[in-house]
Amino acid sequence: MKVTAQQNTRKADRPAQQSTMKAVVREIYGPPEVLQLTELPRPTPKDHEVLVKIHATTVTSGDCRVRGLKVPAGFGLIIRLAMGVVRPRQTVLGSEFAGEVEAVGKSVTQFRAGDRVFGMSGTAMGAHAQYKCVAEKGALALIPPNLSFEEAAALPFGGTTALDFFRRGGLKAGDKILVNGASGAVGVAAVQLAQHFGAEVTAVCSGANAELVRSLGARRVIDYTREDFTASGEVYDVIVDTVGTAPFARSKLSLGKGGRLLLVLATLGQMLLAPWESAVSGKKVVAGPATERAEDVRLLAKLAQEGSLRPVIDRRYALEQMAEAHRYVETGRKRGSVAVTVSHHG
Ligand SMILES: NC(=O)c1ccc[n+]([C@@H]2O[C@H](COP(=O)([O-])OP(=O)(O)OC[C@H]3O[C@@H](n4cnc5c(N)ncnc54)[C@H](OP(=O)(O)O)[C@@H]3O)[C@@H](O)[C@H]2O)c1
Repeated sequence: MKVTAQQNTRKADRPAQQSTMKAVVREIYGPPEVLQLTELPRPTPKDHEVLVKIHATTVTSGDCRVRGLKVPAGFGLIIRLAMGVVRPRQTVLGSEFAGEVEAVGKSVTQFRAGDRVFGMSGTAMGAHAQYKCVAEKGALALIPPNLSFEEAAALPFGGTTALDFFRRGGLKAGDKILVNGASGAVGVAAVQLAQHFGAEVTAVCSGANAELVRSLGARRVIDYTREDFTASGEVYDVIVDTVGTAPFARSKLSLGKGGRLLLVLATLGQMLLAPWESAVSGKKVVAGPATERAEDVRLLAKLAQEGSLRPVIDRRYALEQMAEAHRYVETGRKRGSVAVTVSHHG
């Protein structure tokens, strides 16, 4: 007898009644108005997958980029080829999620129905929905007991990006690091994680966010509206640019011998030039997409449980207010993360 994926699934104690779910979809690339709340079939986990009943997600800068195809210079065609040339292949955005395990595939060993989990679906997206299937070995971890679903959902996008760039840039204790764009999702994670790893952090942000980044561990704050960090003569071991205003040409004199420039936001040209600039300068330029890893999500959970990593939530919206949330994130002014609560009532 042929066994279906549905039959392969170990159900939670209280099986869900409905076979559909609410999700926010977009059929075309465009402004926040293309987003629509709709009903989709609820997914069924494959053998190695976990079905997550999502209680919170976020709208990231990445969601806005992919929705509107507003990508760094040079990436337009590449993103269309990856995501769908005329129309997006994945209609549901959302890369961060937190919720409960509803059911697991028959080969899953690390998670059980009822576990509180959070994670990152990366370019697969699909988290702006009530349910999502995630590979057991994907970027998924248990939520520490001290975090709400919204707080957990606010961690992985910035956290895994910062950890990946720090790994590639060889950040170590004692390094002097400057984080340009310290108040965004990647910035607030970078400031806290760098401080946790024993680096001495200088944060570049507007005056309005100075107190926030100081409270996260920045020893020094530079208000970019008043001061140009490259004009001070100060030299750093590592510079992280999350804004795109500190490319190698501008930052190189602010990097010491063997210094590393981590271009979280880079154009295609800057990415292609990075190996050349590294080879001729004796410094290292790191660019390109970050990889999200399960061990990094577990580390974020551990640090959040210990209190070394604090989720920063700027605003909260309901799933039904997704377009409004996108409009806010698209301003480029959010502090940390914008959380979206996913209700399962009504
Ligand atoms: N390479 C990768 O794999 C990867 C991964 C994740 C993200 N990214 C990219 O990294 C970038 C940052 O992401 P994010 O989610 O952190 O963005 P975000 O949360 O939208 O960043 C918003 C923050 O940037 C600050 N900001 C704006 N202009 C600034 C400037 N000139 N100088 C300093 N701060 C400034 C804003 O503060 P004020 O309002 O005070 O200016 C605001 O707090 C995005 O472009 C994203 O696409 C790349």
